[in-house]
Amino acid sequence: AAAAKIAPSMLSSDFANLASEAERMVRLGADWLHMDVMDGHFVPNLTIGAPVIESLRKHTKAYLDCHLMVTNPSDYVEAFGKAGASGFTFHIEVTRDNWKELIQSIKAKGMRPGVSLKPGTPVEDVFPLVEAETPVELVLVMTVEPGFGGQKFMPEMMDKVIPSKFFWGVRTLRKKYPSLDIEVDGGLGPSTIDVAASAGANCIVAGSSVFGAADPGQVISALRKSVEA
Ligand code: DX5
Ligand code: ZN
Repeated sequence: AAAAKIAPSMLSSDFANLASEAERMVRLGADWLHMDVMDGHFVPNLTIGAPVIESLRKHTKAYLDCHLMVTNPSDYVEAFGKAGASGFTFHIEVTRDNWKELIQSIKAKGMRPGVSLKPGTPVEDVFPLVEAETPVELVLVMTVEPGFGGQKFMPEMMDKVIPSKFFWGVRTLRKKYPSLDIEVDGGLGPSTIDVAASAGANCIVAGSSVFGAADPGQVISALRKSVEA
């Protein structure tokens, strides 16, 4: 089975103290640091780019799990590779027939390729990328619409159909690909993790639930326990 990776989303950290926030998360048991890159075009928000990754890399050896919510991911492969990104996850919604070259270029720059889908995107869309000769090594299933941290994962008014759709996707991927890294992102914390973990997610992104907690280390270990259960 795929090992648990708990990835605090640095989007919820104090950006003015990014190096010490990163160090604190690693000390509290984080496996990966999730870096949300937004271009103000694919999503209506602007966050960080390769220069910030490059600066942070000088302060940490941690795995930097970069989630590129950008319209033209291929334009950024070289810069992220140089900056020291560890994983480079692009969105399926913006890739056409260029995904083979994109995956290959990510690997050529020494990063681990991943593909992400928004909640409304059919999970089948990523199968060819997982089964390719040079495949993606991670699939990131968004459990909220990308763009902002701190969104609710299962709003009370949302009927059961929506969450079960995400987890049907995760479950489908897990059945087909027993050792694939399957990551979930958006609204996850101790109160929402169980359904995601039991569907088969092993990489867990958590922003506000970790950084907003009185004891972030306890949240990280609770997430890990749920994945390993
Ligand atoms: C949302 C980002 C997430 C976000 C998660 O577009 O991809 O990584 O930081 O934050 P929480 O855990 O607060 O929903
Ligand atoms: Zn993310």
